[in-house]
Order: sequence, then structure tokens, then C-alpha cells
Amino acid sequence: MAGDGRRVVVFPFPFHGHATPLLRLASVLHTRGFAVTIFHTELRAPDPAEYPADYRFVPLRVDVPPELMASEDIAGMVTAMSEYSEAPFKERLTAALAEEGAGVRCVIADVAWYKALSVSSALGVPAMGVMTASAANYRVYMAYPMLIEKGYLPVQEARREDLVQELPPYRVKDLLRLEASSLQGFADLLRNTIEAPRQSAGLIFNTLRAIEADDLDTIRQEESLPVFALAPLHKLAPPGNTSSSLYGETQADRECLDWLDTQEPGSVVYVSFGSLAAMDPHEFVELAWGLAASKRPFLWVVRPTLIRGYESGQLPDGLDEQIRDHGRLVSWAPQVEVLAHPAVGAFITHSGWNSTVEAVSEGVPMICLPLHGDQFSNARYVCDVWKVGMEIEASSAAGQNLERGKIKAAIDKIVHDKGIRERMDAFKLAADEAVNSQTEVKALVDLINSF
Ligand code: UDX
Repeated sequence: MAGDGRRVVVFPFPFHGHATPLLRLASVLHTRGFAVTIFHTELRAPDPAEYPADYRFVPLRVDVPPELMASEDIAGMVTAMSEYSEAPFKERLTAALAEEGAGVRCVIADVAWYKALSVSSALGVPAMGVMTASAANYRVYMAYPMLIEKGYLPVQEARREDLVQELPPYRVKDLLRLEASSLQGFADLLRNTIEAPRQSAGLIFNTLRAIEADDLDTIRQEESLPVFALAPLHKLAPPGNTSSSLYGETQADRECLDWLDTQEPGSVVYVSFGSLAAMDPHEFVELAWGLAASKRPFLWVVRPTLIRGYESGQLPDGLDEQIRDHGRLVSWAPQVEVLAHPAVGAFITHSGWNSTVEAVSEGVPMICLPLHGDQFSNARYVCDVWKVGMEIEASSAAGQNLERGKIKAAIDKIVHDKGIRERMDAFKLAADEAVNSQTEVKALVDLINSF
């Protein structure tokens, strides 16, 4: 049994793209001998059956009003979740301390749980925040007051293409695209998200030094905190480390891996938009025709919530046939295994951060189709800094429509781009090296052991 009396409390934020890296991190620490307690909200609770038998699961009742959970006010929702979690978190952590005492070495919580980080520090338990998005985005959080003060935010149409002088390589259009009315709510949330870790013992990033060394160094210096780059988490954790289902929902379709086995190396285009993004039906149709026109096999994750108003069986005439001839649709894929499969040669992605890091770690070139939030800034790094992908600027959020011709052209181009291939191969080697050396894991374990 893991532990020798050393326990970590891990508190994931209950959305797939946030919870997955935290649960993988818990698994990494478990293999390093720590006992693990997962604090989780009652809403979207993880299934203990999918985790090692000696994990403890502690539910927290976080009573956010349902209308806020269902609203589009993301900042309001995240703020409310953190604020409403304060009392139950304090109660549960106090109980864990009464039971385990010094056995609880530290609390590791998503930076979105800023109240939990503050409560832990106040109770004398070393706390570490986890940023599930990029280090570069953390710098955007840090710079938020300046971005407002200098008029970069809210994004104005006329300034969309302007470089953010203080935060290159970002352009104004890459920043969180918010309505003026949401700006203050976000500014308050991000201030709290930055301030709580300042009292903590360190920050953990879901990233690779090979791609974000400068941003990590800047954060370490400006925040005066130990900073760890813990990616690729899906490879640092043991195989089968976390559930492959959509957090508490759809199970992954593993048969698509058998189908990939029948395809030529590097021939398949994998298409996925993560766990939350949605597109309009006409965008879906354009994408489908673009894929069909490329004449390449494709594997496409069409989860039930992907297309606004879509009901299966409603595909336009002829499209069903095209999809059947060239590709395969699944509701949820075992993505990290798909990206690692030799048949996969390109990835059409919404540029969610987990997907980006997974693709870089597996060396799969990306066609970026960012739709919301941090996805625009992730795509900027993929295309302009690391130069391992190309962007199709086509989302509804950008006020433009996706066109089938652009999709086909991007696929044709990326599969033949030698430079992208070579840079991706180099990143894959760097990710393999991070796994082999375990440098960052060892440093993190040493720090936790020192508490
Ligand atoms: C969102 C944001 O987009 C992301 O940038 C932020 O950091 C966290 O919240 P999401 O939109 O779900 O997350 O995208 P992403 O970060 O890419 O995470 C998706 C995860 O789901 C990845 O780990 C991916 O491997 C997994 N996935 C996706 C599957 O396992 N199967 C699928 O079919 C699709």
C-alpha cells in the first residue's frame, strides 16, 4: 500500500479538461509512494471503481445555484464555485487533519479553487496550485489589469490584429474575447486566481519545459515561487492511469483503435474538439465536406453536445455516405492512444490545452480551429512560436464561417510539410526525455517530502 504515512490531498475542478490533468498528477504521486485523497464536488464525482483501491474519495457539497451553473457567465460560475467551496473544504480538511495529522503533506488544487488554496495555507497545510492551461496563459492572467488599463481589453474590432507589445507573441484577437460587461467579473476572478498561489508552496503547470521554458522562468521570477512543468502527464502516470470516459459520462470507443490498425502509417486525420466546445450545424457540414474532399481517412469525435441542435440521422444528402466511405465517427475516443497510433498523421483540434500538449508529446502536427477562451492563444503558440501547426481562422466567435475548401487545403498542406514534421519529431523526443528523466517529478516529490 502506498503512503508510508505520506498523504496528498488532490482537489480537481469538476470539468473534464481541468480534472483529467489533476487526476493524472494524483496517479503520478501515487506511483511515487504517496497515499492519495481526492476531494471532489458531489456534482460530477469521479467513480472510485476506476482508481486504485487505496485512494480515498471525500465528497464536498458545493451549493452553487443551478441557474448560475447553467448560465454563460463563466467567471460568475467559477467564482461562485470557489467561494461556495470554502466552508465544506475547510470542514473536510480539518477532519482529515484530525484523522491523519502530519500525514497530510500537502494540498494540490486547481488554481480555480483559489479559496481552497487559501484555506489550506491558513490551516498550516502547504498548498500547491495547478494551472491546467498553459504557462503563457498564466502570464495573461498576471497581466490582466495591464491589458485593461492599456485598452487591449475588451477586444476592439479595429485592433484585433495588433501585437500586444507587453506580451508578445499575442495579438489582441488571441486574448480572452469577452464582452465589456463580463470584463470586471473576469478581472476579479483572475486576480483571486493569481493571489492565492502567492501564499502557497509552489505552482504546478501542465506543460513541457521544451515548449514554455521562457514563460515558466518569468513566472518563477515574478511570482517568487517554485514552478514545476509536469507534462506529459498522460505518460508520466502509469498506463491506464485515469478513466478514459468523458468525466462521468460517455465511455471511450476502443474499437476505433482496431480500425486505426487497418490504416496506412501517417494517413489518418484525427478530429476532436475536446469536452466542451460546440459548433453550428453549417460549420459541422463544411468540416465534413472538407474532410471528405481531402480523400484521407479520418476519425472524428462527434460527442452529443458538439453540434448545436444536431440530432443523429440529420446529415444532409450524400454526406452520410461520404463519411462512411472515408471515415469513422465516435462519441468519445481514447485520445491519447489515438494520438500515439502510427496511423495518425494530423490532428484537427480546437486547441484546448490538454489536446495541444498531448499532440506535441506524441509528435502529431495540428490544424488549429480555436473556438473559445484560451484556445486562440494556444493556437498562436502552436502556429507562430513552435511552428508545428497551422490555423484555420474560421470560428463563429471570429465572425467568419468555416469553409470546406480551407479544410481540404490545410490537410493537403500539413501532411506534406517537412519542417512541421521535423519540429514535431524534436518535441516528441523532448517529451520522451521528460518521461525518461523524470526530472520535474523528482523535484516535485523532493519538495513535498520536505514539507
Ligand atoms: C478546456 C479548455 O479548452 C482547455 O484549454 C482548458 O485548459 C481546460 O478546459 P477542453 O475544451 O475539454 O478543455 O479541451 P482540452 O484541454 O483539449 O481537453 C480535452 C481532454 O479530453 C484531453 O485530455 C483529451 O485527451 C480528452 N479527450 C477528448 C478524450 O479523451 N477523448 C475525446 O474523444 C476527446
